[in-house]
Amino acid sequence: MASKKPLDGKVALITGGSRGIGLAIARSLGRLGAKLSLCARHADKLETAAAELQSEGAKVLVTAADVTRASDIGKLLQKTEQSFGAIDVLVNNAGIGYFGPFQGAAEADWDAVLDTNLKSVFLLSKAVAPGMIERRAGHIINIASLAGKNAFAGGGIYCASKWGLLGLTECMAEDLRQYGIRVSAICPGSVATDFSPHAGKDVRKMLQPEDIAHAVEAIVTQAPQSFISEILLRPTQKP
Ligand SMILES: NC(=O)c1ccc[n+]([C@@H]2O[C@H](COP(=O)([O-])OP(=O)(O)OC[C@H]3O[C@@H](n4cnc5c(N)ncnc54)[C@H](OP(=O)(O)O)[C@@H]3O)[C@@H](O)[C@H]2O)c1
Repeated sequence: MASKKPLDGKVALITGGSRGIGLAIARSLGRLGAKLSLCARHADKLETAAAELQSEGAKVLVTAADVTRASDIGKLLQKTEQSFGAIDVLVNNAGIGYFGPFQGAAEADWDAVLDTNLKSVFLLSKAVAPGMIERRAGHIINIASLAGKNAFAGGGIYCASKWGLLGLTECMAEDLRQYGIRVSAICPGSVATDFSPHAGKDVRKMLQPEDIAHAVEAIVTQAPQSFISEILLRPTQKP
């Protein structure tokens, strides 16, 4: 008989699971036995990701959904719960950047970044929390950034979203820990994905998406009495 995996029977919802860090997290949680529900805005990349994950033996559901829209989130959660059951692990990973002096940004840039990186986390977490409270268990893992702690020129809107995300994460953790629910943040430095250009950087020295997935694994395999609330991830050598 196959040995039991740590997340056998569990359901993980990963936003932005079609590529980059989200896809690496999906691979890891799938190998740990979780059923995977992935969303992103573009269906084609999701289908490619699903085929890859299924070829490794994972059960995968994909939904084209924009996490800035409450109606898309509602449909995503309903489909996930109908197909797989209640969500045990929510990974709020979908995110976009805006890099440039704040004085040149439009109101629409602010709204797009804040709605994707921060409001979506509020909406998704608010929706899954009641079920987790009933079951007295669950993980909410927010992919933040070192940009949520360090200021840099041109980072205003992105830093504001990730700074806010860290505040939200800590407060949600305090609201939910009494019910056995652990809310954590992971703050990576630059990761080698399509997210931003890597001009002038040695990509081999950069953090890889698998490094963030490894941190997620550490969080979800904790014994129930302990709680990794925040992980800061840096490359060993400066790229
Ligand atoms: N890469 C880095 O250097 C770095 C460092 C620190 C933190 N992070 C954070 O890590 C997370 C993932 O980044 P990544 O590097 O993997 O980026 P990526 O390669 O650009 O992937 C982003 C993912 O999010 C999805 N997404 C974007 N907007 C969405 C929306 N409104 N609704 C649903 N899905 C959406 C994208 O798919 P669609 O485009 O199809 O929607 C894609 O699947 C982000 O939160 C980012 O801020 C990244």
